[in-house]
Amino acid sequence: MDKFIIQGGRRLEGTIVVSGSKNATLPIAVAAAILGDGVSTIHNVPLLQDVNFMCGVLEVLGAKTQLENSVLTIDPGEHAAYEAPYDLVRKMRASIYVLGPLVAKLGRARVSFPGGCAIGTRPVDLHLTGLENLGAQIKVEHGYIVAEANKLVGSDMSLRGPSGSSVGATGNVMMAATLAEGTTTIFDAACEPEIVDLANFLNAIGANIEGAGTPVIKIHGVKELSGTKYSVIPDRIEAGTFMAAAAITKGDLLIKHALPHHLGAVTEKLIEAGVNIEWRDDGARVTVTDKLRSVDVRTSPFPGFPTDMQAQMIGLMSITEGISVITETIFPDRFIHVSELNRMGASIRIEDGSAIVKGVEKLSGASVMASDLRAGAVLVLAGLAAEGETTVLRVYHIDRGYEYIERKLAAVGASIVRVS
Ligand code: EPZ
Repeated sequence: MDKFIIQGGRRLEGTIVVSGSKNATLPIAVAAAILGDGVSTIHNVPLLQDVNFMCGVLEVLGAKTQLENSVLTIDPGEHAAYEAPYDLVRKMRASIYVLGPLVAKLGRARVSFPGGCAIGTRPVDLHLTGLENLGAQIKVEHGYIVAEANKLVGSDMSLRGPSGSSVGATGNVMMAATLAEGTTTIFDAACEPEIVDLANFLNAIGANIEGAGTPVIKIHGVKELSGTKYSVIPDRIEAGTFMAAAAITKGDLLIKHALPHHLGAVTEKLIEAGVNIEWRDDGARVTVTDKLRSVDVRTSPFPGFPTDMQAQMIGLMSITEGISVITETIFPDRFIHVSELNRMGASIRIEDGSAIVKGVEKLSGASVMASDLRAGAVLVLAGLAAEGETTVLRVYHIDRGYEYIERKLAAVGASIVRVS
């Protein structure tokens, strides 16, 4: 298993290029392979483990996929199969995205019930009730979700869970509704940019969707969908992670291709903490000139502060003087990174779904272990700022969502090497 060796204390300076969005690419690939009848070429696709996993699932379902130089070509083929097996789904929860499209296109689906992960139990009840609202019969047996529908019929529904809207359920139901008879209205829909990108792709292959990006999305069913050429939005969480990297090393980075309307809450919080952020046509210039200030953060669905940036903010606050309260409202258990940061000398305690971060002078390098994508990312950030050497183990978690992060960081002055 690969690991990163990082020598801390180096300022990051220069330009770092943001890759395409993982969380837009995954559902768009599903839509192209299962709902579309024509070949799609999707540009700006990141070279990530999760994209490889998703292509594996789509190939089992009969599609042909090819990823070369950030261009993913998807030929739906004969829409041959409707089963997504356990050994593939267990590797990536986002495989649940095939459920709605399979039922819409083939009238049936058999998808292994996705398990939990390091950040929580990850239920899919909203996905299932959303599809039942469209007329699917769904049962769970032998660890599989079995769904059938002679035809899907549009209906009105709310996809609100205990912590607000659901990105996955909104995407799944929106994709299924494109081929349903009549109109579907989703209330309390997720407003994330990745949902907007998915809706734009679906409309580009012939769907009729209005309101994506707002809490009310209307999908007017159509008979068939084709293929198209499309380019995926930049990854706002990768961009936000690099903004935090510039801040934690008191560096000077241009985060190329970052989009201001995707990072409003993150920009606001970093500026409140004393980070200088200058938005330009080609991205965000991030510098630190003064002492940073501790700030409180509360994660919430878009346009609120993203849960996927919670760990990175804890990392930055861990070496910022003062007390910072970081409250996680989406995945209450998403604090595994805290114990590893404390092993590097941070002073953080968890209380009622919040991390209470008492800033320390310096972190000290140590051997630490990544447990999920963003937890791994914050350990890299901490290693960049820490005194001495940090070894980050199990970097395959990081490779799931960051395209060659060590190369991008080394190119702007970080001392980081991958060791197999
Ligand atoms: C997506 O996960 C992202 N993954 C996550 O990013 C991200 O953290 C999350 O949205 C929130 O923004 C992908 O897009 C592949 P949700 P998803 O459904 O769709 C509850 C990363 O780092 N819920 O919006 O699974 C759920 O437990 C990953 O790239 C239900 O109760 O998230 C959570 O508390 C990590 N029932 C809340 O809703 C359901 O049926 C939000 O989950 C579904 C969700």
